[in-house]
Amino acid sequence: MAFVVKKTISGNDYYYLNENKRVDGKVKTKTIAYLGKVKKDAKKKAEEIIRKMNKVKKKKIIQIEQVGKLGKVNISIDDMTSFCKRKGFVFRSGDIYGGFSGFWDFGPVGVEMKNNLKKLWWDYHVKNRDDVVGIDGAIITHPKVWKASGHVESFNDVLVICKKCKKPNKADKNEIGKIKCDCGGDYDWDNLKNIEQMFKTTVGLDTLAYLRPETAQLIFTNFKFVYNTSRLKLPFGIAQIGKSFRNEIAPRDFLFRLREFEQMEIEYFSDPNEKCPYKFGKSWILVYSEEMQKKNKEPVKMKFKEIYEKKIIKTDWHAYWLEQEFMWFVSLGANPDNFRIRQHVSEEKSHYALDTWDLEYNFPFGWKELQGMANRTNFDLRQHQENSNVNLQIMNNKGQKILPHVVAEPSQGVERAMLVFLFDSYYYDKKRNNVVLKLHPQLAPIKAAVFPIVKRKEFEKIAVDIIKDLRKDWNVVYDKSGSIGRRYSRNDEIGTPYCITIDEDSMKNNNVTIRDRNTTKQIKVKISNLKNILRKLIDEEIKFEKAGKLISTRIK
Ligand code: GAP
Repeated sequence: MAFVVKKTISGNDYYYLNENKRVDGKVKTKTIAYLGKVKKDAKKKAEEIIRKMNKVKKKKIIQIEQVGKLGKVNISIDDMTSFCKRKGFVFRSGDIYGGFSGFWDFGPVGVEMKNNLKKLWWDYHVKNRDDVVGIDGAIITHPKVWKASGHVESFNDVLVICKKCKKPNKADKNEIGKIKCDCGGDYDWDNLKNIEQMFKTTVGLDTLAYLRPETAQLIFTNFKFVYNTSRLKLPFGIAQIGKSFRNEIAPRDFLFRLREFEQMEIEYFSDPNEKCPYKFGKSWILVYSEEMQKKNKEPVKMKFKEIYEKKIIKTDWHAYWLEQEFMWFVSLGANPDNFRIRQHVSEEKSHYALDTWDLEYNFPFGWKELQGMANRTNFDLRQHQENSNVNLQIMNNKGQKILPHVVAEPSQGVERAMLVFLFDSYYYDKKRNNVVLKLHPQLAPIKAAVFPIVKRKEFEKIAVDIIKDLRKDWNVVYDKSGSIGRRYSRNDEIGTPYCITIDEDSMKNNNVTIRDRNTTKQIKVKISNLKNILRKLIDEEIKFEKAGKLISTRIK
């Protein structure tokens, strides 16, 4: 909302056009234009500017409308930050003290979504496979682990200062001397600084220790114990989900680059001479190899099988796991067109990697690493064997003792995955006039909201009984405040896939109405069948229209 304000400075009046905007939940006032010293002229000018602004706003809305009834909206990372705060997904950590850069807290719906995401990752990668088991290692471990892994020596970031805006920034190894600051200024490449990325702490009185910068090392140090206790045979994987910490020079882009984050990692071990026994799927993806990057060629869309057969990815294991990871995102509703795989150029590879491919996502701020996947060979097991003097060899399938290779290390940040699902599910419905977060039902923080259509004791009793029953299996809410339309929109915005309403028909015929978030279609089902139907809907075993009797209602 824009408005004219008068400022009196040294007895003279000056007119300005100001606007109030909500940023991160706070109303902030911004001056849009200086309108001069004469009140009459200032008013005229203001009207002209407001007219132009409204035209632009209308254009934006028309763009949304043209995409369809439920329009896909591509919002900026700042808009996503505000949305997540407004709806209770994510808050700046320590916000009441001004926030703490690189640290974020998860709110009531954010923590539910994050827990769902981690569970779905674990089910796909561990529970539903015979060849992967999990561990949960300590955040602080023996400091010698980080010496042996090479982190103490080489886990550094290069800090560079912009000559123009003086802001510090992080430069990747392959970017040194080649990039410019966002402000357009040149970096001072003659004065680079190496910054240690591991957070230090003391244990007991004065023992130096580190907060782990990756979960992976705990998998290597426990490798032999897991092998001895799990009756596993090569090839096999060990998975872990947990917190990691990195003292990033320039944390930025909301949940993208954090100082405290969670990783979901697998170290997949094999005898490097054994072939991958699993078949490739049928998915297509954009491929951006080192050669394409160095010859300034565009990425090409290919099938994973073809990518391996043409030796663009050198090993079958690496190509297989990249496809598995891509398919996980797509199976949960992510848009496949927003993904590509990019090979690390030699200058950017980590100290342990023979070959690395990133699964990248087209974020609003460009193509960026979503998941890293290195072929770490047996670098880590070798290092720990040498430094600990403990034999970490195991038998291969020919009865020979070997130190197996990590043929692929799918390493995914939980928060980056969450961003992908939030961006890809962010839609706007012009008719409903609200955001519709089309999250996959299994990812959705709340699976169903139950409402009595009006406040009547008899309806409320049925609603409470339904809630009690559904709560045994899912996170569901009981919502009886506000108009029915307001309750629908509130739930659309946080991605609740189904709203269940209790009305006169529930009293007479034991029916309830289920409303589908994506289409606003409604069906009637018997209360006795509700749980069973809801389960099939959440697991995508049945189409909504086939799950009950379709009805037509006034309120969508
Ligand atoms: N163990 C291998 C490893 O940690 P990485 O490429 O440094 O490899 C893997 O990290 C993934 O962890 C990244 O692809 C990203 O999803 C997540 N990640 C890494 N640093 C992060 C940060 N500062 N903030 C948020 N996520 C991060």
